[in-house]
Amino acid sequence: MSAELIAEIEKLKKERKAVILAHNYTLAEVQDIADYTGDSLELARKAVDVDAEVIVFCGVYFMAETAAVLNPAKTVLIPDPAAGCAMADMITGAELRALKARHPGAVSVCYVNSTAEVKAECDISVTSGNAAKVMATIGRDKEILFVPDRHLGSYISGMEGRDYVLWQGHCPIHNALLPERIREMRAKYPGAPVLVHPECPKAVRDLADECLSTGGMCAWALKSDAKVILVGTETGILHRLRKENPDKTFIPISDDLVCADMKKITLEKIAESLRNMTSIVKVPEEISTRAKRAIDAMLAVS
Ligand code: 13P
Ligand code: SF4
Repeated sequence: MSAELIAEIEKLKKERKAVILAHNYTLAEVQDIADYTGDSLELARKAVDVDAEVIVFCGVYFMAETAAVLNPAKTVLIPDPAAGCAMADMITGAELRALKARHPGAVSVCYVNSTAEVKAECDISVTSGNAAKVMATIGRDKEILFVPDRHLGSYISGMEGRDYVLWQGHCPIHNALLPERIREMRAKYPGAPVLVHPECPKAVRDLADECLSTGGMCAWALKSDAKVILVGTETGILHRLRKENPDKTFIPISDDLVCADMKKITLEKIAESLRNMTSIVKVPEEISTRAKRAIDAMLAVS
């Protein structure tokens, strides 16, 4: 069944001049048929560079929306439009406008895990892979509004040694990771390095060896001499880490780190999406033009 489905996807991909982009958290079989797998920053860049008429975006909606905003001339499909991001939904455009009104003159920064409507209200966006580099370009005299992730915001503001006004959003999956769990796993696997995502709370980040984007974790693992590595992010990444490093052992810090939305994209839905050209990701032009400014400003830095 799966072999038939994969053959159909390959055939439809050629007919439609399509490429498949998949996030590091998607199902293993989805990562395996994708043309490119990566983190939010790598996929945003790929969406611009790929020579294709159609992009099938396997990830959550804000990522597909970013690809659509960056590529008005390409058709961007998401195989399941219900694949959302709880963090992205923690702030609306209207809420951000109200915050900006309370802080006139401030620079508005959004984590890429936000809707296009929110990006349209921002001066610049960041991903977990480039946040430090992008924030360093903002004048020290400026007040900074950082939305929606309070954890990524506090991580970078701590690194920079200046305060941001932080929106109190979070990723429910990473936010649930507790420092006790890191201590437990360290005791169980002494000497194994601990990697966590910047969406984790400070108490967890403080106990880690490295705090990295998912792409950063993949790059770090390739270079590391460690034989056993503890991974503190969504468990979908383990497939790629194990595939690229067959000589190393990767252990999830918690099996509960599962983003149900990332698992909504299946091979069946990808085939259906290419067959019927659904669901097309459409961003109203007025929002898209303004959101693109914030994303382009980020891509110009990193
Ligand atoms: P990355 O950009 O590090 O892949 O993170 C995306 C994400 O949604 C993490 O929860
Ligand atoms: Fe959003 Fe968290 Fe899922 Fe990432 S893991 S897509 S931040 S809900």
